[in-house]
Amino acid sequence: MTNQTQEAGGLSIEVVEGFDGVRVGAPGPTGRPMPNFPPPPQLLTHGPARIIAMCNQKGGVGKTTSTINLGAALAEVGRKVLLVDFDPQGALSVGLGINPHELEKTIYNVLLERHIDVRTVVRATAFDNLDLLPANIDLSAAEVQLVGEVAREQVLGRTLRPLLDDYDVVLIDCQPSLGLLTVNALTAAHGVVIPLECEFFALRGVALLVETIEKVKDRLNPGLEIDGILATMYDPRTLHSREVVARVVDAFGDQVFHTVIGRTVKFPDASVAAEPITTYASSHSGAYAYRLLARELIARGDAA
Ligand SMILES: Nc1ncnc2c1ncn2[C@@H]1O[C@H](COP(=O)(O)OP(=O)(O)O)[C@@H](O)[C@H]1O
Ligand SMILES: [Mg+2]
Repeated sequence: MTNQTQEAGGLSIEVVEGFDGVRVGAPGPTGRPMPNFPPPPQLLTHGPARIIAMCNQKGGVGKTTSTINLGAALAEVGRKVLLVDFDPQGALSVGLGINPHELEKTIYNVLLERHIDVRTVVRATAFDNLDLLPANIDLSAAEVQLVGEVAREQVLGRTLRPLLDDYDVVLIDCQPSLGLLTVNALTAAHGVVIPLECEFFALRGVALLVETIEKVKDRLNPGLEIDGILATMYDPRTLHSREVVARVVDAFGDQVFHTVIGRTVKFPDASVAAEPITTYASSHSGAYAYRLLARELIARGDAA
């Protein structure tokens, strides 16, 4: 840790070099002073898990990438993590080296066939502390099939319940829609993380998402909270990225994570290699960004 003083808006503030060169006390990428996110305490016991839905009805904003890499960063600090693929595209499963189209049983079967023990469908990944509940294209039929179920919004929550004591965090990778599957994820969750791509139209659609979250909170899941809004694909060299983040902070204030995820080709490269960036390019800034996000989430009390 190195200390120095920096002029910021005429004020002299103490700047401390923290984790990965984060300048604690100096304005961060969101324009607010960066807090210090300490190393997470070691956990001696595990569970019950806090469930977080990674949600945005827009595709290509970094939901799946954030699910894998936040999950891997939490696993790295000793959290037991379950990743739930809840998108029929199965990108989360593929990104962890599991070909979901060859699987006999996926989350789809557990949702619709009561007699199946969900534990038999969870798979260990090649990475410590990181398990996966896989999905494939079969899940696309569930949206229609669940409509006729009693308490159709609560099916995922019921499915996950037997697993919660075995994990510290469950991350649900939602599909890009606000349909019944996403409502199931929001009903099962304690918190929501909303990844937002640093692009001009990033905020378009977020009002509808927040309205959906509020409705679910009102009618189905009173404990549901927005854990945070995560700016992804941030390019500090462009005024554009900085403007988008400033607008997001104007709209959502302290709900925006201090941590932002930079744009780098290492993320698509890591998915091709079917690995989290934390192992694929362990010392890359993209790996540190998700480690910092893990620390921020734990420091906020949104993960154990
Ligand atoms: N921070 C990033 N920088 C560069 N590319 C990224 C970043 N995050 C995600 N990507 C890439 O963008 C594409 C969409 O990301 P993905 O996580 O699949 O979004 P979603 O799940 O919201 O559809 C993928 O090809 C992914 O590798
Ligand atoms: Mg996805």
